[in-house]
Amino acid sequence: MDQKELKRLVGQSAVAYVKPGEILGVGTGSTVDCFIDALKDSGIDVPACVSSSVRSTKKLQDYGYRVVDLNEVDRIGVYIDGADEIDASFSMIKGGGGALTREKIVASVSDRFVCIADASKKVDVLGQFPLPIEVIPMAVRAVSAEIQRLGGEPVLRDFTTDNGNKILDVHGWKIEDACAWEEKLNQIVGVVTVGLFAHRGADVLLLGTDEGVKTFSR
Ligand code: 5RP
Repeated sequence: MDQKELKRLVGQSAVAYVKPGEILGVGTGSTVDCFIDALKDSGIDVPACVSSSVRSTKKLQDYGYRVVDLNEVDRIGVYIDGADEIDASFSMIKGGGGALTREKIVASVSDRFVCIADASKKVDVLGQFPLPIEVIPMAVRAVSAEIQRLGGEPVLRDFTTDNGNKILDVHGWKIEDACAWEEKLNQIVGVVTVGLFAHRGADVLLLGTDEGVKTFSR
C-alpha cells in the first residue's frame, strides 16, 4: 500500500476512539485530514471540536462542525493527531505542518492522545526528521546560534505560523532522551515551542502498515 492509502486507513480507524457527545480535539496534517473525512462519513455526534490550526478549523467548518476556542473548554477527552516521527516510548517529533504550538497546547489539556501515523513514522531514535522549533521572529538569529552551539544545524523555514512566528527545522540531532532535550530546548530564550512531544507523548498509537492498522498503547 502507498503512504496515502495507509494514512486513509489509520484516519478511518481513529474514528472508533471518538466519544459521541464529547468535545473532540483535532490535530493537523494530511493524516488528520483523512481522519476528518472519515469522521464526517461516520455521522458520529460531535457537539464541538477544538482545533490545532487554521487549516483543520477550515476543514471542520466546511463539513459543518462547530469549532470552539480552547478558552471555552476545561478538558478534552480525546485528541487525535499525526506525527512526523514516533519512538518506542511514544515520544514524537511534530510540527512538519507548522502547527506544533497549538497542537502541544491542545494535547496538554487532553486526557487521551491518539496518534495516527503510517508505518514510515515509527523510528528507533528520533531525529532523522528535522526537529521543528517555533521561534519569535526577532530571536531567529539568537536561537539559531544557541542551536548551533548544541550541535544542531538550523534551517529557517519559508513559512509563518498561525501565531505569526517563524520555524527553524533542526538537522543533525539524534534524540535519545527526549524529555531532557525537550526541557533543554524549552529554556532557550526566544523559543515558543519545541516540536518534541515527550513530556506529553501519545497514549495510543494507530500505525498504518501493509498488514493493516496496528494498535499500541502505553
Ligand atoms: C503538523 C504535524 C503533523 O501531525 C505531522 O507533520 C504529520 O503530518 P502528516 O499527517 O501530513 O504526515 O505535526 O504540525
